[in-house]
Amino acid sequence: MNKIRAAITGIHGYAPDYILDNNELAKMVDTNDEWITTRTGIKTRHILKGEGKGTSDIGAEAVKGLLEKTNTSPADIDLLICATVTPDMQFPATANIIADKVGIKNAFHFDINAACSGQIYAITTAAMYIESGKYKNVVFVGADKMSSIVDYTDRTTCVIFGDAAGAMMLEPTTEDVGIIDSIHQSDGMGRKHLHQKAGGSVKPASYETIDTREHYIYQEGQAVFKFAVSKMADISVEMMKKHNIDPQELAWLVPHQANLRIIEATARRMGISKDQVMINIQKYGNTTSATIPLCIWEWEEQLKKGDDIILTAFGGGFTWGAIYLKWAYNGMNHK
Ligand code: UT7
Repeated sequence: MNKIRAAITGIHGYAPDYILDNNELAKMVDTNDEWITTRTGIKTRHILKGEGKGTSDIGAEAVKGLLEKTNTSPADIDLLICATVTPDMQFPATANIIADKVGIKNAFHFDINAACSGQIYAITTAAMYIESGKYKNVVFVGADKMSSIVDYTDRTTCVIFGDAAGAMMLEPTTEDVGIIDSIHQSDGMGRKHLHQKAGGSVKPASYETIDTREHYIYQEGQAVFKFAVSKMADISVEMMKKHNIDPQELAWLVPHQANLRIIEATARRMGISKDQVMINIQKYGNTTSATIPLCIWEWEEQLKKGDDIILTAFGGGFTWGAIYLKWAYNGMNHK
């Protein structure tokens, strides 16, 4: 019998209605559309507005849409994994809350926090549960309300991030499609360049941490930029070599959307052209755990069964990796 693989059998995305554009940001901090566009490629980002609304609300919208689209009853889901760095609360897991909001009752659920790479770590984890033969319908949802940890007085970070969610259905297959391989790495030394200083066990919230604005993202942009390009490119090239994928034959690269210049440099180093790369950073900015499913969702109609696709991400930790998969269906959702 052929090996059981996990195939992505459906995809859905959700971005909240409110659109924050570069001109509005220029009224909040000392920046301008020209700087943001040339340095990051971002034009707009979506922001979740509304008292009491959190990551689970956008995550639940993505999962609800996915279940409808794939004609799947919530009762049939075995496992839900949520990747996020902006959980609704420290505990319980946001995955638990999303499952409750969409009526998933017969499953277990947990969160993965690997910053922007959480999305690919979660897809690999979901795939391994399926490959074990024990689980059939696994949902991965990457969701972040980045606006909850962005300092809108810091022009170096507030222009980058946005809120969104993307969800995928993964199911077993014995056909020659699905997730073929993944390579993941982490280096905790990188934490000094990108982290949130307060709110954890080392520095719990206090009046002082609020006064010193330590509950927001701290990022040394240039250092992160250099690592992001070299690590995403190196690991994607390693994956292509391992599976004898000619750069010209790769159907799609789906890179984490952190900065257009990072994406273009990664593609150049891999020897692929820009039209092989999914890019939607101009609309959503960096949505952390949601960038990859959001891209695949927007490109779904163009995808063909058997397409060779590489997903790659880099994020805080540092964490990074690549997944090689063969797309499992033609056009819009196959069910
Ligand atoms: O997804 C998680 C991983 N994160 C990333 O991958 C992010 C990686 N880093 C980046 O994308 C870029 O480093 C940034 C977009 C964050 C910054 O771009 P940069 O080209 O590295 O700019 P920089 O930090 O070197 O700053 C260049 C100049 C500075 O001014 P001086 O010192 O040259 O006078 C900054 O103060 O640009 C200034 N600057 C801005 N100017 C206008 C920084 N932010 C802004 C801004 N508007 N928003």
